[in-house]
Amino acid sequence: MVDTRDIDRIRDSSDIVRLVEEYFPMKKTGANYKALCPFHQEKTPSFVVSPQKQIYHCFGCGKSGNIFNFLMEMEGIDFPEAAKRLAERTGVKLDRPQSKEYTRRKELNKKIIDLNHRAAKFYNRYLGSDAAREAYEYITGRGLDRDTIEKFLIGYAPSDNQIVQKALSNGVNKDILIQSGLAGQSRSGKLYDKFKDRIIFPILDERGQVKGFGGRVIDDSAMPKYLNTAQTKIFEKKKILYGLKESKQAIRKKKKVLLLEGYMDVIAAHQYDISYAVAPLGTALTAQHIYKIKHWVDEVIFCFDSDEAGAKATVRAVELVVESDLMGRVCQLPEGTDPEDIIRKDREHFLELLKKSKEVIKWRIEYSIDKFRDIPDRAQKN
Ligand code: UTP
Ligand code: MN
Repeated sequence: MVDTRDIDRIRDSSDIVRLVEEYFPMKKTGANYKALCPFHQEKTPSFVVSPQKQIYHCFGCGKSGNIFNFLMEMEGIDFPEAAKRLAERTGVKLDRPQSKEYTRRKELNKKIIDLNHRAAKFYNRYLGSDAAREAYEYITGRGLDRDTIEKFLIGYAPSDNQIVQKALSNGVNKDILIQSGLAGQSRSGKLYDKFKDRIIFPILDERGQVKGFGGRVIDDSAMPKYLNTAQTKIFEKKKILYGLKESKQAIRKKKKVLLLEGYMDVIAAHQYDISYAVAPLGTALTAQHIYKIKHWVDEVIFCFDSDEAGAKATVRAVELVVESDLMGRVCQLPEGTDPEDIIRKDREHFLELLKKSKEVIKWRIEYSIDKFRDIPDRAQKN
């Protein structure tokens, strides 16, 4: 754990104004700074930061604390984690002997994330090239604009091995390239790009670190539709929610989260200003997913695709919400649609459907009754 002397040193070398301003701008008023409170919804600023006292206080919702509390609240992390992150920022060395293995793993992860970040930038730039015109037209044809493309760092992967070539010529170690999931290795030992001719969705964690990628084909008949980075130590699907970095501010303010099914659903929601939306990555929702958002929200709203798979996913998700003591609602979409379809075609309609969403228990009971009715011999007896 963190030593009290370390905590003093971290506090002495940090500045709460600088930290807060990394999240949102503030206005200087006299000796203090003022802003709209990040912890509740308001129209006039009542969130005040005092550089002298190194504390914040909101006169609207009453939240207050020091730099550690601020980071804990904003990131939903515990005290040791907040201390660690502040120590990293300020260069304070925590006198904790760390195992060689731990240090080695940390350095490796950092290299992979760094490589992923550069790859994401490359794919994103490549989307603007002539070779990617079809992909660009596909994306814009589905209603996404430039801002959305940049916000989600959407890109395109070329048909040859440019990532491998660039990385190797920049001195990236072969092993790192393979472990990142960006490259595969043929029997003869040659490296090749894993993502080719695919629209690329970088997968960021809530801190903005690029942990992996999803790549979609342009031609729907090609398989698989999405190719995702394989599960690795740094890319754990059961912990990552797509869109959490972009949504976390809105989630915190609204105290609720909208859980959708896929990449395109989340992106469309954001583009149409429904910015508290995230999605698990083609896996069932897990307790770890819920854990990530639990401290920010009172309520979870599920809106999965309106098909049998979506309903099954909702059943599992509902159980998780009930177990975690959160409130939950289920939003049902017309047969055969998904959130992206509806949002893009008629945002107001989607908002209406959201309003009509059912409390989870009610939804669950009605789902069971419907299933029961579907059993043919029972139906005949009725
Ligand atoms: P969907 O098939 O609903 O995809 O799968 P989507 O996001 O609506 O994409 P569009 O609208 O067809 O472009 C939902 C999620 O399941 C995962 C992806 O995370 C996807 O966003 N998935 C789907 C895969 O990982 N692999 C697949 O082959 C298909
Ligand atoms: Mn879809």
